Amino acid sequence: MKHISVLLKESVDALHLKESGIYVDGTLGRGGHSQAILHRIPNGHLYAFDRDQSAIEESKQRLSDIGKNVTLIHANFSTMREELKKRGVTKVDGILLDLGVSSPQFDEADRGFSYRFDAPLDMRMDRTQTKTAYEIVNTWDAKDLVNVLHRYGEESFAKLIVKQIVSAREKQPIETTLQLVDIIRSALPEKILHKKGHPAKKTFQAIRIAVNDELEELHTALKQGLDLLHPGGRFCVISFHSLEDRMVKEAFKQVSMPPQLDKRLPIMPIDLPKADYRLVYKKPITASETELIYNNRSHSAKLRVIERIS
Ligand SMILES: C[S@@+](CC[C@H](N)C(=O)[O-])C[C@H]1O[C@@H](n2cnc3c(N)ncnc32)[C@H](O)[C@@H]1O
Repeated sequence: MKHISVLLKESVDALHLKESGIYVDGTLGRGGHSQAILHRIPNGHLYAFDRDQSAIEESKQRLSDIGKNVTLIHANFSTMREELKKRGVTKVDGILLDLGVSSPQFDEADRGFSYRFDAPLDMRMDRTQTKTAYEIVNTWDAKDLVNVLHRYGEESFAKLIVKQIVSAREKQPIETTLQLVDIIRSALPEKILHKKGHPAKKTFQAIRIAVNDELEELHTALKQGLDLLHPGGRFCVISFHSLEDRMVKEAFKQVSMPPQLDKRLPIMPIDLPKADYRLVYKKPITASETELIYNNRSHSAKLRVIERIS
């Protein structure tokens, strides 16, 4: 399935692209954002990362048709500092992260991301990594599983679901997505099963986040990204659930507040230390009415943007 880029215009405009600037797209996917960036930096360079080799393969031709000033990197965005350094880059003019899974990853049944198709329990964005959903579901301690479902899925029935998982896997390993869906259904109270939204949604999100260490990845990338910016450079992050958005909001808030000084110190207002970054928007940007109609994935999207001042 085709991936329709979310908040495409809003995020690319927010980067304030300079024709000869150096930019990073940490989440290449099918290259929607990267293409839009490349069109606007004829004399600059784009470094685009994806941990999924198929994203790199699929986007290669499309991007090189626009320009040769792009480098595709098969790596996690948490390694951006090191990967850029290898290529002689220590500062950049802008960074974009469009988090989560792409539509092709979600819709390719055999990747195991979706609770709608039967597939082996996989959920790896990077198919070269060893940790899979199978390993987590079948070998992790019940306590750790409850933690994952609570923390990453905000699933109120985590304990009930894990109890059913543990009892099922004692009989035989849980091999597929639909087996897991049945187990989740069997654990949930009847009234929850009739609620809007798929009953396995939160558990699948939680396991996917754990398989791909998504929050650790984001934490590291936020830190590195902020450091990598030149003054005037911007960092745009599109997130799709509250855990990610909270993390982005906090990280951006922290660096955009001036350092706190003892109020008793005799310092003139003009001499007060200033923050090194500023929030470009106080509130996150969300999808327009039109985008909400044609792009289902845009419903939960939030874009936050920060600019380095000095
Ligand atoms: C939502 S899609 C990006 C779509 C893209 N912006 C477009 O318009 O086509 C997210 C992509 O980021 C990749 N990804 C997610 N987490 C990553 C990470 N930590 N490091 C590198 N790539 C990551 C996924 O493999 C996926 O291809």
